[in-house]
Amino acid sequence: MKRIGILTSGGDAPGMNAAVRAVVRVAIFKGLKVSGIRRGYQGLLEGDIFDMDVSSVGDIIHRGGTILQSARCLEFIEDEGFQKGLDMLKMFNIDGLVVCGGDGSYKGAYRLWQHGFPTIGVPGTIDNDLAYTDYTIGFDTAINTVVNAIGNLRDTSSSHGRANIVEVMGRHCGDIALHAGLAGGAESILIPEIKFDIDEVCRKLIQGRNRGKLHNIILLAEGVGKPYEVSQAIEEKIGMETRVSIIGHLQRGGIPTAFDRIIASRFGNRAVELLIEGQGGRAVGINGDDIIDVPLEEATKPNDRYNKKMYELAQMLSI
Ligand code: F6P
Repeated sequence: MKRIGILTSGGDAPGMNAAVRAVVRVAIFKGLKVSGIRRGYQGLLEGDIFDMDVSSVGDIIHRGGTILQSARCLEFIEDEGFQKGLDMLKMFNIDGLVVCGGDGSYKGAYRLWQHGFPTIGVPGTIDNDLAYTDYTIGFDTAINTVVNAIGNLRDTSSSHGRANIVEVMGRHCGDIALHAGLAGGAESILIPEIKFDIDEVCRKLIQGRNRGKLHNIILLAEGVGKPYEVSQAIEEKIGMETRVSIIGHLQRGGIPTAFDRIIASRFGNRAVELLIEGQGGRAVGINGDDIIDVPLEEATKPNDRYNKKMYELAQMLSI
């Protein structure tokens, strides 16, 4: 292993820069050369590749987004595009690759590994939708952004006695809604893993109103969909005025929290260590406080877990 490549791919996540910084600096510290690949797999197959040194990653640990930029590359899924990517890695003398991204990015990394090229996945996605790791880079920052937004909405919701339906990201995974909902004291949390009952949502709103509650926050994950239909159903069923807020990409940016910077640095370090040890086809993660690594194949399995106990606690606390 003489030269490693690093790319960030898929939806960006705050803290990705800290992971890039760790990969570059640990690799250089251990005597390796590093190539940065811009715009994920798209940049790889276009040969958008450059040498990185210690100062390439100076002054980025606190910045959201990714200095390497990111993309979702459909061409890389096709055989021809994939082969182009593989050829580029050879052409630029790259011996191992670190891929920071979510499940789609991991699938590309796994395919490279199946073709004999050493790859290591670093979990970078705000969704926290990779089952093998307790946390992914960017999730902690995103939930803090959502909790701050809930605080603002609570103010205006109280002034007007309205219910605010707040949509957060998470296509298949309700972790952002669940964690931010618990931390933000949402009345109802609607996640894709659990079928919701609109009458139950309304019952809670009425109960709250009857005991003089002024604010009402209903947090809904993107994967549940239809925030405007939920809002209309509430108005029709109980006559409470509602507003819808879709937080959207606001939760993908911003200054990464200390937690995200720390896990990103630890993941980046372990990714380089694994490549030096001659390993490939692995994904790093965190279990409790331990940095772990699992086969990429396992890391790309669909995620059907959610924290049932946390969900029940949020339900209990929002009676
Ligand atoms: O995968 C992360 C994610 O933030 C999802 O929750 C969301 O659906 C998606 O990215 C949106 O991505 P983009 O608009 O960048 O394609």
